[in-house]
Amino acid sequence: MTKIKSIFACTNCGATSPKWVGKCPACGEWNTYVEELVTKPTAQEEKQRSWKGPQSGNQQARAVPLNDIQAGNTQRLTTPDKELNRVMGGGIVPGSIILIGGQPGIGKSTLLLQLALQVSATTLYVSGEESEEQIKMRADRLGGSRSNCLVLTETNTDKILTVAQQTGPQLIVIDSIQTLSSPHIESTPGSVSQVRECAGEMQRFAKETNIPIFLIGHITKEGSIAGPKLLEHIVDTVLQFEGDQHYSYRILRTLKNRFGSTDEMGIYEMQSGGLREVSNPSELLLSQKDEDLSGSAVAATMEGMRPMLIETQALVSRAVYGTPQRSATGFDLRRLSMLLAVLEKRGGLPFAVNDVFLNIAGGIRVDDPAIDLAIVCALISSLEDVSIPSNICFAGEVGLSGEIRAVTRIEQRIQEADRLGFKEIYISKYNTKGLDVDRYGIKVRTIGKVEELYRALFA
Ligand code: TYD
Ligand code: MG
Repeated sequence: MTKIKSIFACTNCGATSPKWVGKCPACGEWNTYVEELVTKPTAQEEKQRSWKGPQSGNQQARAVPLNDIQAGNTQRLTTPDKELNRVMGGGIVPGSIILIGGQPGIGKSTLLLQLALQVSATTLYVSGEESEEQIKMRADRLGGSRSNCLVLTETNTDKILTVAQQTGPQLIVIDSIQTLSSPHIESTPGSVSQVRECAGEMQRFAKETNIPIFLIGHITKEGSIAGPKLLEHIVDTVLQFEGDQHYSYRILRTLKNRFGSTDEMGIYEMQSGGLREVSNPSELLLSQKDEDLSGSAVAATMEGMRPMLIETQALVSRAVYGTPQRSATGFDLRRLSMLLAVLEKRGGLPFAVNDVFLNIAGGIRVDDPAIDLAIVCALISSLEDVSIPSNICFAGEVGLSGEIRAVTRIEQRIQEADRLGFKEIYISKYNTKGLDVDRYGIKVRTIGKVEELYRALFA
């Protein structure tokens, strides 16, 4: 007999408790506990749910020497989408589960339907969100409909996996994990235990059949994948699809990858006919302008393994109200406050009486510390109303005492700036070890302190 019991689960981290609690002892969030009904399957049912049939539970466990395991049959499935291949670490690993999260409307369904249409492997596209007609309309919009994409609109996991077994696709896409419901437990779709159960069933299926599965996951207001954080533990790869609603650029980042590096990222542009891969991001992120304007500076940043030149813009203006405003788009506000404090203290520049607005072009979020130097320049440039020639770029981290610190992969940054026709690049003087500055057409200028930078550009 199946036993039904009720537990309370945290919607933030998935921790459970037999009683309701106000503050989650695991993640510290308030008011996140909800009641869930769970049915505990009997041992008999547990056995039957294995996709190899009931007898698989009786087989004896056996350890295998690592050297005897053949790695040759784990051939990755490479897709026509180069950005996706890069982000996944060189293609899709058979039997892996990939979770892709992102805000509503960012293009998750578009990305994966496009993949399903382009890839030569037979794909089963399961949607619990859209009807068959709607998917067809979207596919028509994306063009290039291939006959080897099967569409299934279903939310019951047992039915989905039965269809998957019958049709034998080489790739499965589930849109989305929050709409699935497993008949094995009582909770409503989207609840913590339901999402965990469905993801677990998908994982078991993927591991047993060696078919890779993409799961689309919604994200909460706070930006984490909705509900259970534990979903991130079940899956092999977690990708995040992000971008600014007002721009057409979309960035695919790896948050976790069991089969590759998490440094990689892919860039797309949303167009009327779907997502286009952007292989040369710098040219898009540098705004086209004829004259040199104050408050703008170009940073030579790295996103993952890729060098990227990005324009930073600052506006410094006299504060109208008592407390000056600070606002940053695409950059950490606390880091901006830190840079302003450094300029105020070390450079004696009067930022404390001014409003400061900072913007990274293209709606891109940058975490690379090498962008500091360009931001500092943009800030001073706006404050002093002195423009920086548009053929100069910067790469350096700014420390608390105003020193310019070395950054990683400086050679790649210089090369990219050189390739894009920049005439000068400012880097840290501590970054020149093993660097042959005469190799490049671009002039490499080295500085040690913010004061030197001020003297070189604004004095
Ligand atoms: P969608 O894939 O439905 O987002 P998600 O699944 O992440 O919620 O993307 C919907 C948005 O993408 C919608 O605002 C319209 C836009 N879009 C295009 O600009 N071009 C296209 O070819 C498609 C299919 C969508
Ligand atoms: Mg969608």
